Amino acid sequence: MNKPSDLPLMAEAQVGTSRAHESAHLHVSGEASYIDDIAEAQGTLHAALGLSPLAHGRLLAIDLELIRRQPGVVAVFTAADFPGENNCGPLLHDDPILASDTLRYLGQPVFAVIATERELARRAAALASQALRCEALPAVLTAREAHALGQYVIPPMHLTRGEPAAALAAAPHRLEGEWSVGGQEQFYLEGQISYALPQEDRGLLIHCSTQHPSEMQQLVAHALAWQAHQVQVQCRRMGGGFGGKESQSALFACVAALAAHKLQKPVKLRLDRDDDFLITGRRHGFDYRWTVGYDDAGRILAAEIDLISNCGHSADLSAPVLTRALCHFDNAYWLPHVAMHGYGAKTNTQSNTAFRGFGGPQGALAIEIIIDSVARRLGLDPLLVRQRNFYQADPAKGQDLTPYGQQVSDNILQPLTERLVASSDYHARRAAIAAWNAQSPVLKRGLALTPVKFGISFNVVHLNQAGALVHVYTDGSVLVNHGGTEMGQGLNTKVAQVVAHELGLDLAQVRASATDTQKVANTSATAASTGSDLNGKAAQDAARQIKQRLAALAAELLGLPAEQLQFAGGRVGGSGDSNGKQSIAFKELVAQAYLKRIQLWSDGFYATPGLHWDRSRLQGRPFYYYAYGAAVAEVLVDTLSGESRVLRADVLHDVGQSLNPALDIGQVEGAFVQGQGWLTTEELVWHPKTGMLSTHAPSTYKIPTANDSPLDFRVALYDQPNREDSIHRSKAVGEPPLLLPFSVLLAIKDAIAACGPAHCDPPLRAPATAEAVLRALGALA
Ligand code: MTE
Ligand code: MOS
Repeated sequence: MNKPSDLPLMAEAQVGTSRAHESAHLHVSGEASYIDDIAEAQGTLHAALGLSPLAHGRLLAIDLELIRRQPGVVAVFTAADFPGENNCGPLLHDDPILASDTLRYLGQPVFAVIATERELARRAAALASQALRCEALPAVLTAREAHALGQYVIPPMHLTRGEPAAALAAAPHRLEGEWSVGGQEQFYLEGQISYALPQEDRGLLIHCSTQHPSEMQQLVAHALAWQAHQVQVQCRRMGGGFGGKESQSALFACVAALAAHKLQKPVKLRLDRDDDFLITGRRHGFDYRWTVGYDDAGRILAAEIDLISNCGHSADLSAPVLTRALCHFDNAYWLPHVAMHGYGAKTNTQSNTAFRGFGGPQGALAIEIIIDSVARRLGLDPLLVRQRNFYQADPAKGQDLTPYGQQVSDNILQPLTERLVASSDYHARRAAIAAWNAQSPVLKRGLALTPVKFGISFNVVHLNQAGALVHVYTDGSVLVNHGGTEMGQGLNTKVAQVVAHELGLDLAQVRASATDTQKVANTSATAASTGSDLNGKAAQDAARQIKQRLAALAAELLGLPAEQLQFAGGRVGGSGDSNGKQSIAFKELVAQAYLKRIQLWSDGFYATPGLHWDRSRLQGRPFYYYAYGAAVAEVLVDTLSGESRVLRADVLHDVGQSLNPALDIGQVEGAFVQGQGWLTTEELVWHPKTGMLSTHAPSTYKIPTANDSPLDFRVALYDQPNREDSIHRSKAVGEPPLLLPFSVLLAIKDAIAACGPAHCDPPLRAPATAEAVLRALGALA
């Protein structure tokens, strides 16, 4: 018998074809069940959190009686009530679930009110400023301030290659700069929510909207001083996560779990949008300071840069986020001499966390801003300068090694860019825009092309593993369960396609079930875009084991060698089987296998090969492969109002051999518009005195709407198989396209530059709101 992987592939493709999202019909009809849709068990109570009114302070006392007296209130819990550790930090133990003696940011949960109705719990919790006796301490609200004080949540990180100081001194041109980019709220449509139900014999079932059920299980067990097997965490789907539910769903899971356990009643904690903003963190804003050296052609000879990220009050995932930022400062470019210094500033604000791209966008954006400035000062088209700095595909040239020591061996930057330059008609449009701008005094157009190279894998090697379970029932229907979570990205659809493909079945015969810590144990977060890479492979492994057993039986029944059998169209048979005589229906084969006591279900496992990473030296091969892409954006800027509009965006993005082009294009479009929001309209403002996040609702925090997406949006996939043996040679797609709208920001800058003298370099900040555009225009005058 051959190894299962040697069995011939089926003729018809369940993978590689556009299939609707497995829940699309439920999403559009409103039938898709989210946590708050689960029918409430009898006696369900509701929790709300009392929040710190100070950005920094000492907590002296809590008037619990005041809260307990409120209508509907059943109980109030504080930090002292956790039988285990009062901590929900994913890596370091520096993240209290409820504040005990120090108040670290305005909005920090201090106590939990449990009441008979959600509204009553919220009303009582809103009395926090009356119930809390506290003393204000001086607060540090900006990363710059914290950096000046040397106040960090993690030790600084340094990544150096070559001799940057000497190379800077020798460079024909030098440029110093400073820049900053704001944070970004995930704005998942389903807010943070946990629903905990006591089970017999000291057990808990928690329905939690989370990207990381296993970590929720562990943290709840720690907080209750329980064993992990007492806690079951389940998530059928999230109404979006975007990184915000990777670690930060934990606080709510722990509070709901504590209350449910103590009261022996089901307890639900669903946040209001404003509280979600005030309690949870988001994308790290970054401040940068750099010196670069370059030659007349715009080639970067050396770069030194400080990257200061605003982490908020605790470490959360800030260390891996900063690592990814340092590992993406190079983006598409070979930097011969480089020194990067990363600082994780500790401020009295929400603790910042994962957000689509996980620091990668903040790293890569810096070099794109630098290259744009270099090109403008030299009077060259930034596209040309970019191409001159690209990593070289030819290893003989010695320009294919990243600063962290990984070889860029799958480089398609140049051909991909050239194809996009041609398909977007870049050069002709650049000329047309210059002519148009010359006779348009108020409205200006701008154009920019930016590339993306994004490393795929968790930077922490051991996280790159996954498990799956595939059940074939006696009627031939199939159920697949895996460790990944569904948040709208289509992971379940892709995994079901992989299983259907393996078994030669129609997609309708395969169903994906809720993620559950009792099914697949010790899972990694669905993050770093690795969901389908990892879980697709694990599910394929499970399906192949079943397939192997079925093939052996079919060979016996049909009198054919197992290696000649194909699983296709719901049948199993010989390859040349045109009259159906030499084949057997899958359903029939399964029924026979059951009678012969052949195991019809299997687990599967996958660990990404070839990865190694030295965390202290920041060297190794952290990524299995790179995903590439490029975008050309054309914008129109009204120089009187500062408003801008994306007229057209052309995207060419590399997803390897797509598992599902419809889903992949959806991911590219969504990420593009989300990244555009980060860089144009989404602005976070903390009150400089009180530390209150003033932009804590959609009225003041502006995410893009359908109206903001590019008027003419042309997304194409660069359809070439992954060089590595990824699942069906596809590539991860979740995060890399978030970097594509760098082109929008730089196109706005290009339009502004059209108002200034030749070689001008407008100081446009991000987000490029109307105010920022006007300020940059003002600086040109
Ligand atoms: N797409 C939707 N619709 N909703 C989401 O929350 N999260 C993004 C991306 N695409 C997200 C999404 C993030 S942050 C990641 S890491 C990936 O999906 C995770 O899923 P994957 O690994 O299956 O791509
Ligand atoms: Mo995505 S930021 O890795 O959850």
